[in-house]
Amino acid sequence: MQRLQFIKHSSLLLMGASTLFSCKQSDINETIITTEDNSCDSTPSDALGPYYIGDTDQINDINTAQMSGIKMLVTGGVYVDSTIKQKIENAKIEIWHADHQGTYHPQARGDTSDFEPEQINLRGTVVTNKNGLYAFNSIRPGLYNPRPRHIHFIISAPGYKRVVTQTYFKNDDSNSSERIEDNIDNCLIIDFSIDSDDLLTGNIDFFLQPEDAN
Ligand SMILES: [Fe+2]
Repeated sequence: MQRLQFIKHSSLLLMGASTLFSCKQSDINETIITTEDNSCDSTPSDALGPYYIGDTDQINDINTAQMSGIKMLVTGGVYVDSTIKQKIENAKIEIWHADHQGTYHPQARGDTSDFEPEQINLRGTVVTNKNGLYAFNSIRPGLYNPRPRHIHFIISAPGYKRVVTQTYFKNDDSNSSERIEDNIDNCLIIDFSIDSDDLLTGNIDFFLQPEDAN
């Protein structure tokens, strides 16, 4: 384990799982520094998919319905690019993924105003803090044919190109369906680890390009 990863992991463990699962933006450890392991020049785009719901609530635990599943904490940062790695404060990260059985809530597209609040789960928006960092809690997404296990993201910030993308799970058996390890850039593959409290933790950084970049 690289030193920086150890710092991150140690600080998270010290916080304790109960704290982590009620993680607020202010709880994000300001000393978290991500490694270069999953960096890329700019975050590649990926398909929006059929189940995007716009204007989701700003929340850190997106499993508002408390559905069952393996608890998951995702952390990371949003930066201008991987070489300068200038942090972007107040970047908006929209997140959505399937439940542990591979179903979206709702299994539809639209806007939150099109649905009752209780129809919406495993969807939310987080905003980066002054150090460009974010975190959210959820449960590990399940599988639906023929897709590998994945999480959808849209990352946006004023002055930068909006990125629609998906991230994948390193060494997941489901990756063979799209040959993820061969075909997807490393910076979209999260290397999760599971701690003694059975909390799956992973880090993913996003790299945006200025709006006027070629
Ligand atoms: Fe999907």
